[in-house]
Amino acid sequence: MQITVVDHPLVRQALTTLRDRDTDRTAFRAAMDDLAFLLVYEATRSLRTETIDVTTPLTTTTGTRVAEPPMAVPVLRAGLGLLPGVLRLLPDSPTGFIGVARNEETFEPEPYMNSVPADLGGRDLLVLDPMLATGGSLTHTCNILRDRNPGRLVCVCVLAAPEGVAALDRSGLADELVVGSIDDHLNEQAYIVPGLGDAGDRLFGTA
Ligand code: PRP
Ligand code: URA
Repeated sequence: MQITVVDHPLVRQALTTLRDRDTDRTAFRAAMDDLAFLLVYEATRSLRTETIDVTTPLTTTTGTRVAEPPMAVPVLRAGLGLLPGVLRLLPDSPTGFIGVARNEETFEPEPYMNSVPADLGGRDLLVLDPMLATGGSLTHTCNILRDRNPGRLVCVCVLAAPEGVAALDRSGLADELVVGSIDDHLNEQAYIVPGLGDAGDRLFGTA
């Protein structure tokens, strides 16, 4: 698995906003949106393109367009925080939804939704989940997607723990991981340290 840590001043600044426990929900969502934009810029570097003619006010020249936009696959709930930023750059991308909730006692993924087509026909995928902790949720998601004839499978995460990166790598299911930071470790509750807390709760609140 190719691992791309997007080390950039604007990424570090947005991450700092997300980490700060005093950041309110509005500012948290805005920083998540900024990160989606910055991370997807890196995650789409190897997209296939085609040339098209374009007429400028002066002449005709050769332009570029993305040949087939990747499918965005947010992992519910927290992955929804990354979706608007991704669709802003890739407005023609279809979206498939995977719902997985981590059992907070066993840390095992518990699936509850899947709207991804049975045959992806080789389409590239951007799997969106801000947090890669034990790796259970993302490995479960990639397992589902691998069986559906995908093209390049790229996971886009805001924060990862070394344990989660190793688990995803070992699974052999993802082609690339694009991430804002690989933090220090997981604590006894399998939370990323220093981390940002519970991404879903900070984006959407608790029920
Ligand atoms: C969070 C996060 C990941 C998962 C990471 O989701 O968004 O999906 O935990 O943990 P893991 O790598 O140990 O599996 P959660 O299950 O809390 O659901 P939510 O997004 O609905 O809050
Ligand atoms: N899920 C989160 O939202 N945060 C963590 O640190 C780990 C799992």
